[in-house]
Amino acid sequence: MNNRKKKRSDHQVDIRCMTIDDIAPVFHLGEKLFTLEFSPNLYRTWDEYEVITNFQNDQEFCFVAEDNDEIVGFLISSIIAKRHSSWRYGYLIWLGVEPSHQSEGVASRLFHHFRNVMIKNGVRMLLVDTEADNVSALQFFEKVGFEKPKKHIYLSLNLDSAQTLYKEKEKKRNCKE
Ligand SMILES: CC(C)(COP(=O)(O)OP(=O)(O)OC[C@H]1O[C@@H](n2cnc3c(N)ncnc32)[C@H](O)[C@@H]1OP(=O)(O)O)[C@@H](O)C(=O)NCCC(=O)NCCS
Repeated sequence: MNNRKKKRSDHQVDIRCMTIDDIAPVFHLGEKLFTLEFSPNLYRTWDEYEVITNFQNDQEFCFVAEDNDEIVGFLISSIIAKRHSSWRYGYLIWLGVEPSHQSEGVASRLFHHFRNVMIKNGVRMLLVDTEADNVSALQFFEKVGFEKPKKHIYLSLNLDSAQTLYKEKEKKRNCKE
């Protein structure tokens, strides 16, 4: 059973496009959310370049939620256009809401803004992915209309011992030269 209580927010959070000044606050909010304990994959793939590169490539598709000058949420997305197809896909890459502002409808507002921008840009389908045990995100995506989930398996291969071996070989080679 979901015991989550809907919180009431006293004031309106603004949804707007990300600006250069938002890069650091968005990155730090992501660091707070995408921890190793919460999700090893999100933790490993979240870094400042995620924010900077997406901002640089698709500024008009990066949004923030602002409450009294504080960034309390973000949504980073892009459009995938295939060369020989009329289909344009809107890919929701990152979504996060400051824990103290969760369950106040912030992600819903970010999503609806994103959805409207995608419609205006000729997008015919929205795509998103997240881990199978990220219940809050999955319920959120279902609530806003995503359907037909397909299983996607994440695997990892640790190269630590291969790295050590490689470095030893390099060392020996350098000694010989
Ligand atoms: C997922 C997340 C973005 C939701 O943000 P939010 O602002 O709290 O979401 P909203 O208040 O707009 O919730 C809308 C709906 O989503 C679902 N939902 C949101 N949080 C939920 C939770 N903790 N448990 C179950 N359902 C949840 C509910 O269906 C909710 O509707 P309801 O309020 O009528 O029950 C937020 O929990 C978060 O930042 N999680 C960590 C980051 C993350 O996992 N991002 C996604 C992968 S990139």
